[in-house]
Amino acid sequence: MTLPTLDTPIALTSRLPQVGTTVFSTMSALAAQSGAVNLGQGFPDFACDPALPKQVAQAMEQGFNQYPPMPGVPALRAAIAQKMQTLYGHAYHPDHEITVTAGATQAIFTALLSVVHPGDEVAVLEPCYDSYVPNIELAGGVVVRVPLTPGTFRPDFDLIAAALTPRTRALVINSPHNPSGTVWSEQDMRCLEDLLRGTQVLLISDEVYEHMVFDGRSHASAARFPDLARRAFIVSSFGKTYHVTGWKVGYVAAPKALTAEFRKVHQFNVFTVNTPVQHALAAYMADPTPYLELPAFYQRKRDLFRAGLARTRFRLLPSEGTYFQCVDYSGLAVAERSLPEAEFCEWLTREVGVAAIPLSAFYGNGYDQNLARFCFAKEDATLQSALERLSQL
Ligand SMILES: Cc1ncc(COP(=O)(O)O)c(C=O)c1O
Repeated sequence: MTLPTLDTPIALTSRLPQVGTTVFSTMSALAAQSGAVNLGQGFPDFACDPALPKQVAQAMEQGFNQYPPMPGVPALRAAIAQKMQTLYGHAYHPDHEITVTAGATQAIFTALLSVVHPGDEVAVLEPCYDSYVPNIELAGGVVVRVPLTPGTFRPDFDLIAAALTPRTRALVINSPHNPSGTVWSEQDMRCLEDLLRGTQVLLISDEVYEHMVFDGRSHASAARFPDLARRAFIVSSFGKTYHVTGWKVGYVAAPKALTAEFRKVHQFNVFTVNTPVQHALAAYMADPTPYLELPAFYQRKRDLFRAGLARTRFRLLPSEGTYFQCVDYSGLAVAERSLPEAEFCEWLTREVGVAAIPLSAFYGNGYDQNLARFCFAKEDATLQSALERLSQL
């Protein structure tokens, strides 16, 4: 018998055997390496309001540097509850129904961990944000994938209804939607409310782009629909709203009983979230102007980017919300128009100098439909430089 040496690897069975490096990291690395304009990963290349870091510094100087209360700084929870009451007409109790999280990612994961038992089914609507499926798997749940309608990315309520079984514990929805930029209407939310009425299905409503809804539409938060709100974990992200994705602070709003279960997990996976940033956000939220002006801010960028793309052979899909614009590249006058999405995006990054994300990355089976996603949360000059490069196509 040979004895193991120090070089013998320790045996491991992956909890997530399907998961590798995310396409976002791969594309960002390729963009850096090729000197490409990075319209891949979704983050702004411009600064946040300088008042915000000043308020963080002040909070630090004032001594807010120790653990805050487990659910979050009371003033921030109160500000969140106030905002949700004003915008969506639902009164969440700041003490029992709002929890500050380390970004939306942790909020979604913690919500799933707190309610999903091994073998429970959780439905996701594909294409979807890449953390949902591994999160459900880590919680021991069974992932049920329901496609959004190809081409329009609208919810198909017959398909959703058909996917629900007595074992369905939760449904994850996301509007405004990453990657498609589709926004669910009030009618969509009513259909969902009717569909879930009388069931025990919980809802995880990923609303991180709640303040990026364009063309005069309003955000149909699950908070506005009583029979959705009573079963929903509503998740949002300050990173998206205030141009500070690296701060990783978000929150979850949920009825008291759901919040109680959520906090049982939260207190043992993160316990608390960065104190001075919470104080700064609480002070900053006193003025609603920044989030009320966000739709106009991003709509102008969307229009600038779309106007430039309209002069190329890309076919533009609607962008009703988020900071994403999807394009169909099958009409380009280059041979690469027949490449699968992942290869097309690699070629676009390397040879044309603009990084994009293949839509296939948001499907479990890599479904390919000649679509790429651009992020327009960029300085106008960055968008212009991308458009110049794309105009060759
Ligand atoms: C749909 C969606 N949900 C959640 C997140 C994660 O948000 P956070 O950075 O606050 O964790 C993102 C970020 O890209 C997202 O697009």
